[in-house]
Amino acid sequence: MSGNVRTIAWTGEALRIIDQTALPDRLEYLDLRDVGELVSAIRRLAVRGAPALGAAGAYGVALAMSQGAREGWDERAVAAAVAQVRTARPTAVNLAVGVDRVAPLMSRGLPAVLAEAAAVVAEDVAANRAMGVHGADWIQTRVPRPGPAAPGAPPPRGLRLLTHCNAGALATTEWGTALGVVRELHARGLVEMVYVDETRPLLQGARLTAWELGRAGIPHRVQVDGAAASTICRGLVDVAVIGADRIAANGDTANKIGSLGVALACADAGVPFVVAAPWTTIDLGLPSGADIPIEQRSEDEVLGWGGTRTAPQVSGGFNPAFDVTPARLVTALVTETGVLEISAGQTPAGAAAAARPAAGPATLWDTAAG
Ligand code: MRU
Repeated sequence: MSGNVRTIAWTGEALRIIDQTALPDRLEYLDLRDVGELVSAIRRLAVRGAPALGAAGAYGVALAMSQGAREGWDERAVAAAVAQVRTARPTAVNLAVGVDRVAPLMSRGLPAVLAEAAAVVAEDVAANRAMGVHGADWIQTRVPRPGPAAPGAPPPRGLRLLTHCNAGALATTEWGTALGVVRELHARGLVEMVYVDETRPLLQGARLTAWELGRAGIPHRVQVDGAAASTICRGLVDVAVIGADRIAANGDTANKIGSLGVALACADAGVPFVVAAPWTTIDLGLPSGADIPIEQRSEDEVLGWGGTRTAPQVSGGFNPAFDVTPARLVTALVTETGVLEISAGQTPAGAAAAARPAAGPATLWDTAAG
């Protein structure tokens, strides 16, 4: 597929990732050979985005095992290295989910761990494709666009979308969650424009989302985060589509800082606010978003840019990396199993409970509402 990238791959001896800090200037790959390199890559966002972190976590277990074998670690040292990977960043639950899925296989040896990590990647790719179709179907049928007023009038114009941060192929293993929906709508000829929030402080929107949309030939405009509310309230946006880092059982959604402001503006303007995320991002163990751990990053990221200080030396910084949008502001949650209309009262907990008696907790297909 044109413009497609694979964010993470196992080379046989290293975890190869796209170095997202070099984009959009250079498409460079990093071969990570030990746990220290992986943890550092996660913390400085060389690899980032919730589902990509899930895959990195799964392969991180393999890295801990192979480094342990090379360097003669005992079991406790390997377990400590695995724990380092698991906690490298706190908000995206996928990281811990990826580690926890693969770690129990360590006793069966490296090939078993690698096979399970490959399954994590394959499932993520399939989930993204399914989310793209479910989300595009929902938007196509539920989001109004000015249509023909009379017989013979021109067809409805294309959709105007807004997205925040990067929830594309780079944030997953391939294709994307929110951008997967946008890609599918574009393939159906339905996209007029995507407004891309630049996403301060690290510019995942301006650097990464814009790069992906450009490669895919999807029309887009980058705007400063401060423009989003105005763009929405002026009627320039039909629907906002974002990803998520962790979703609580009631539908409260943590995503990149600034997402809450987008949701509030959408609620005021009557614009649907749609979250696209796989079930691996849903933390059914948390009843609400109040308990989602929010990563606090270095104040240097907001006090300057590109190594140059922009704020006065006397100023302090405040840099929460994520915010939590309450479920009442989330119009729809698109997962690989279908769409939940969250602000209408559907919840991940309810969908999981409904799926459980028939098929067990792992099978959540057929929970679609729309
Ligand atoms: O700090 P980041 O870049 O890892 O934050 C990523 C996001 O907030 C994404 O929107 C989210 O992980 C969804 S990725 C499909």
